[in-house]
Amino acid sequence: MSLQPFLDRLDQLQSDAQNAFDGAADADALEAARVTFLGAKNGQFKDVQKMLGGIEPADKRAAGMRLNDVKQAIHTAFETAQSQLGGGGSSQIEPGFDPSLPGRRPRLGHIHPITQTIDHLTEIMGRMGFEVAEGPEVEDPFHNFVALNIPEDHPARDPLDNFYLATAGTAVDIGEGDALLRSQTSTVQIRVMQERQNSAPGQPIRIISLGRVYRPDAPDATHFPMFHQMEGLFVDEHVTMANLKTVLRVFANNYLGDDVEIRFRPSFFPFTEPSVEVDFLWNGTWIEFGGAGMVDPNVFEAVGYDPEKVSGFAFGLGVERLCMRRHGITDIRDLYSGDLRFLQQF
Ligand code: DAH
Repeated sequence: MSLQPFLDRLDQLQSDAQNAFDGAADADALEAARVTFLGAKNGQFKDVQKMLGGIEPADKRAAGMRLNDVKQAIHTAFETAQSQLGGGGSSQIEPGFDPSLPGRRPRLGHIHPITQTIDHLTEIMGRMGFEVAEGPEVEDPFHNFVALNIPEDHPARDPLDNFYLATAGTAVDIGEGDALLRSQTSTVQIRVMQERQNSAPGQPIRIISLGRVYRPDAPDATHFPMFHQMEGLFVDEHVTMANLKTVLRVFANNYLGDDVEIRFRPSFFPFTEPSVEVDFLWNGTWIEFGGAGMVDPNVFEAVGYDPEKVSGFAFGLGVERLCMRRHGITDIRDLYSGDLRFLQQF
């Protein structure tokens, strides 16, 4: 073989290798390119090196020197590409660091099952035209009791049944009596009706409010001192009990399935007349999920609505119970244990 084709082959090899190393997008691609060009067995450099044996003796020295230069250049190109990828050569690896160990997986966040339930309930009720309203968790007795037709001597106001915010025997007064953590989301009915009279007088109201409520109950499988309710309120002309039953039935079918059985049981709440308790059949037993009824005229009067002109229905359902029924959870405390083995199932 004569010298020139050999030198041309070397030039070609050098530029091919350079391009391959420069174009390698990651460490794996670079390693593949290294094997292609510098591999000890079938690398292209090895192949060209073998051709040196067929060079005329007079050209051997020049050919050998050029071969060494190209070898050096290819190695340099490889090392440059390697350090640009950030992998670094072996000299850059800290002592004691084993690059072959698996990486540390970042811990991804996870939406709590109750938050997922709230999102789901909001979506179902939104499809029926209910918008979301919010109210504070620290309330005054007017919104938690008085406007809801719960008189001063009613047992629901007993300090043993509520978290009043008192320090050293002195109740905290937030303007309208002793502040407390709200014991029900029905407070939001009052706030919304008060507010809408200014912002949208005469307009129908169709809201839900999902949030925390607090009661000093000892925790067991079905009780927890903090839990969530979904409150609903519909105010318009000519609203009837039939509307209430339809909305709750459609809601239950959407959230718990078409075969869910629902029962409305006559009951009493100070802020509705008539009132019902809402039960769902669960494993052959009727379980109460909340209360509902037609807004009591006294409530309308407390917030300045004319009960002769408007009527409405309201309901309050336990969010944890709904979540537990849907997912087959048997102990409410599991939801608040913070145990990721439990929470990550949802
Ligand atoms: N606030 C009631 C409770 O916590 C539930 C409830 C009953 C809400 C009847 C309502 C209702 O809006 O109309 O036990």
